[in-house]
Amino acid sequence: MRKVFIHTFGCQMNEADSARMIEALAKSGWAPTGSPDDADLVILNTCSIREKSEQKLLSALGRYRPLKAERGARIGVGGCVAQQEKTRLLKKVPYLDFVFGPDQVGKLPEIVRRVEEENVRLAETEWLDSSTYVFPQADPDFARGRATAFVTAMKGCNNVCSFCIVPYTRGREVSRPVDEILEEVRGLTSVGVKEITLIGQNVNSYAGGVSFAELLRRTAAVDGVERVRFTTSHPHDLSDELIALFAEEPKVMPHFHLPVQSGSDSVLVRMRRTYTVEWYLDRLEKLRAARPGIAITTDIIVGFPGETDEDFQKTMDLVERVRFENAFSFIYSPRPRTAAARHLHEWGEVPRETAVARLVRLQAVLREHSFEYYASCIGTQVEVLVEGPSRYDPERRFGRTPENRVVNFDGDAEVGQTVMVRVDEATPNSLSGVQVGHSPAEPAQRGDSGRVRLSVVS
Ligand code: 5AD
Ligand code: SF4
Repeated sequence: MRKVFIHTFGCQMNEADSARMIEALAKSGWAPTGSPDDADLVILNTCSIREKSEQKLLSALGRYRPLKAERGARIGVGGCVAQQEKTRLLKKVPYLDFVFGPDQVGKLPEIVRRVEEENVRLAETEWLDSSTYVFPQADPDFARGRATAFVTAMKGCNNVCSFCIVPYTRGREVSRPVDEILEEVRGLTSVGVKEITLIGQNVNSYAGGVSFAELLRRTAAVDGVERVRFTTSHPHDLSDELIALFAEEPKVMPHFHLPVQSGSDSVLVRMRRTYTVEWYLDRLEKLRAARPGIAITTDIIVGFPGETDEDFQKTMDLVERVRFENAFSFIYSPRPRTAAARHLHEWGEVPRETAVARLVRLQAVLREHSFEYYASCIGTQVEVLVEGPSRYDPERRFGRTPENRVVNFDGDAEVGQTVMVRVDEATPNSLSGVQVGHSPAEPAQRGDSGRVRLSVVS
């Protein structure tokens, strides 16, 4: 069998798309390989969210170029940069064989066949609208031996955040019909998957026949599903029904990723985020009341056009108030076609040194807060769904708590088992400990947040 290597950049949507590419190509005789050196086909599934992500593509392409001369490997680019650049990318990179957009994943085997048989260079970047788009269905066989899986609930984004390129690379929102989603979930649990993460650029605006909260409820009700997660959400689509579900449905995990972007209302207006800081805080208060101990994570941009010291201070104040469990923070990067890039000079470009200094200050505080959460677990037992061997030491196990905290531990639990782990050490982004006993955690032993305090701290 000939071999395909896929290099995936960016978010969970891209990870899921890469999985669908492997499955589609397998049907036409391609086997996946973990190394580009023995690949006959190399695909880069790309991200264009920030300028840096695009530069990463160009340097990776340079690294794969020799494979073409050495082994005649074909090279293709998919994902968001492909959608944005289309045929321009073929012109820019003369050794590239083909370019395909996110909507063309199902057609990939056909594209590869044409490239090989007809010896043509292709760019397939057509949009498919909601009436013609069919979501590629995951093949559960590929999930065998895994505890967790992403399931696509929707694609695209109808928001117009002024910094964001996603509406131009992923198109308008299309929700996947609820029955298709549940069928995929049933297939995944039949091969042993325990945790389902529903994904979409703006997943909580799901409209595939039922509300998003109802979709989560039905996913949780599928036989074999033990944990349900979802990402990513927009604060303005965070409904009361969804908040109430956190009080009702224990299988929905106590973690909410809710990008706030800025703590200043005037920056939020220019970002076209359509909520205020007050609204955001109100949503969080209700979420925390519905599920005490819920882990709140976020995304923050600093150096957005026109961001003053005062605006930035408001972001710092918000961070102090919320104490996020974890946050991804970025320096604003102007993206083609977006409103903020067009208004950059009018609104006022923030000098790079100022933006870097703000990011450094912000990240120091974010790290402190993360560490507080993780350190507070020392001496407690946490519930862990085992996902595989630890990345740093294959003798150890790796898994996550309900709050999505990473845990590396000594123990003998199998992938897919849920066990209790006594936490001995913490860093700002992981826990380390020892499995307690050898049997799966008893449901009765589990606290609401999956955390049990020990009466004796060892
Ligand atoms: N510049 C910097 N960060 C961005 N993000 C999205 N677009 C940009 C941009 N132009 C960040 C947002 C978003 C996350 C996925 O990436 O914080 O939530
Ligand atoms: Fe990249 Fe597109 Fe995902 Fe954004 S949505 S991270 S641009 S793949």
